[in-house]
Amino acid sequence: MRLTVAIDGPAGAGKGTIARALAARLGLGHLDTGLLYRAVGALGGDPVATARALRPEDLTRDDLRSAAAGEAASRVAAIPEVRAALLAFQHDFARRDGGAILDGRDIGTVICPDAPAKLFVTARPEIRARRRWLELGGDTAPEPFEAILEQVRARDARDETRADAPLRPADDAVVLDTSDLDPDTAIARAESIVRTRLGL
Ligand code: DC
Repeated sequence: MRLTVAIDGPAGAGKGTIARALAARLGLGHLDTGLLYRAVGALGGDPVATARALRPEDLTRDDLRSAAAGEAASRVAAIPEVRAALLAFQHDFARRDGGAILDGRDIGTVICPDAPAKLFVTARPEIRARRRWLELGGDTAPEPFEAILEQVRARDARDETRADAPLRPADDAVVLDTSDLDPDTAIARAESIVRTRLGL
């Protein structure tokens, strides 16, 4: 069986933390597919042309983690031709020797529908906004909590309602709600689910 793990979910649910930890524990390659869309948004120009010309080194730019890059990513991600241009890179990564974990929004539904292990990692919007607010400094954050919650809701709505590859759990994904879990517990649960699915 091919060792492919698909992890999807909204921003701030903890899927990146879980994907990185599982990749290290299971010895699998890891691709954060959000970086592809973030790079297309950050590079600017015509998004379709930029996506077609994207190079692996574009994923290492140091401005990709900002909130602005996340917003730009969410916008270019709604363009079907951009998504199509990024397919081959993701398919190649998923087929790499030794197995792979990909995290994003449409991995279990579109990119790797045959992945034997699929997780949908989620959390309540208030919890995800609070994590983001704390990351930005809590009381010293540049924006109030309510503004961040508004952004979280707007990004969810855009990702969930776009016509092409909207964010939703695959029928055979296991849903993991991290709202009331600390990171270690969430990682342990995810590892147990994935090991069972992969027969490890
Ligand atoms: O996971 P992230 O916050 O880095 O993703 C940024 C945006 O990219 C997200 O709002 C939607 C888009 N995205 C996507 O449409 N499909 C993916 N597989 C990954 C990200």
